Amino acid sequence: MVTNDRYTQYDTWAWLYNQTMGPQYSANQIRPLETLLLPALSANARLLDLCCGTGQLVQELIQRGYSVTGLDGSEAMLDYAHQNAPQAEFVLADARHFHLPDQFDAIVSTSASLNHILSIDDLKAVFRCVYVALRDNGWFLFDLNHPAQMTRWWQGQAVEGEITQNYAWVLIPVYDPRDDSGYFKIVLFQSQSASSHPLRRMLYRILSLRWLTRLRLKVLNRFQNWEPNWRHSEMIYHVRGYPEATIRQALAETGFTEISVQTIDGNPQVDNKHSAYFRCRKPANGK
Ligand SMILES: C[S@@+](CC[C@H](N)C(=O)[O-])C[C@H]1O[C@@H](n2cnc3c(N)ncnc32)[C@H](O)[C@@H]1O
Repeated sequence: MVTNDRYTQYDTWAWLYNQTMGPQYSANQIRPLETLLLPALSANARLLDLCCGTGQLVQELIQRGYSVTGLDGSEAMLDYAHQNAPQAEFVLADARHFHLPDQFDAIVSTSASLNHILSIDDLKAVFRCVYVALRDNGWFLFDLNHPAQMTRWWQGQAVEGEITQNYAWVLIPVYDPRDDSGYFKIVLFQSQSASSHPLRRMLYRILSLRWLTRLRLKVLNRFQNWEPNWRHSEMIYHVRGYPEATIRQALAETGFTEISVQTIDGNPQVDNKHSAYFRCRKPANGK
């Protein structure tokens, strides 16, 4: 059953996403868009970034001359998106039931946002809304984490995180291949007082070096021992893994054609190391 709720769960940590994953993910995602989508578009094409988050990717696309709308369910994420991409339009709505008919030459959804859609019926509802929002011949490109890849990487270990002078966070993904369900947990520590000891501040600066990731994650795993007075909170985000065949079938049933799948490196054989990029098209005279 398709619900009428709006997905708002990123409201609580939009401030953190805006400083951390937002800039990092948009820098990663512009490359597949440049290889898989943008060459097929005219210079003044109109794009929708579905589940646009804090809008850094929207801004990348605006800078390339496109006219871009961002849609997200989280009001707090969109508050940052307005600041990051002041020339863009933004729509506060749910991906499962938005209505912007015949407007866009292309719709993108990146950083595995659609894994947050927890049932295939809801995902089909998203595909239907996308189909309606596209102009004839319009393109839809999105990436998903898939079961083989999640089984390999989502093993309940810390995979990314950061320590700053005022806060620290770590991301722990978990996946159960028996029912394709998963979640990722964000563990957050926030300083309550002015600052830690100077030596410790220096250590945190050193630990922010990119090549010290393993050591940083080790410290983060026991961060409560390091900073017992920092406020500790945890947030859980449920996701679902969808096999490639299920997605292909749902896209075809919606009416999409020219369905193709590849990795970020353009490999048509999706393996367990990479997410899957699906690209498809609304046909001419699509109903
Ligand atoms: C992992 S973030 C990705 C954000 C952005 N695409 C990026 O690459 O940084 C997932 C985003 O999807 C949004 N989202 C998840 N489910 C949604 C839904 N059903 N409707 C609208 N937005 C949704 C969340 O609010 C969040 O901003």
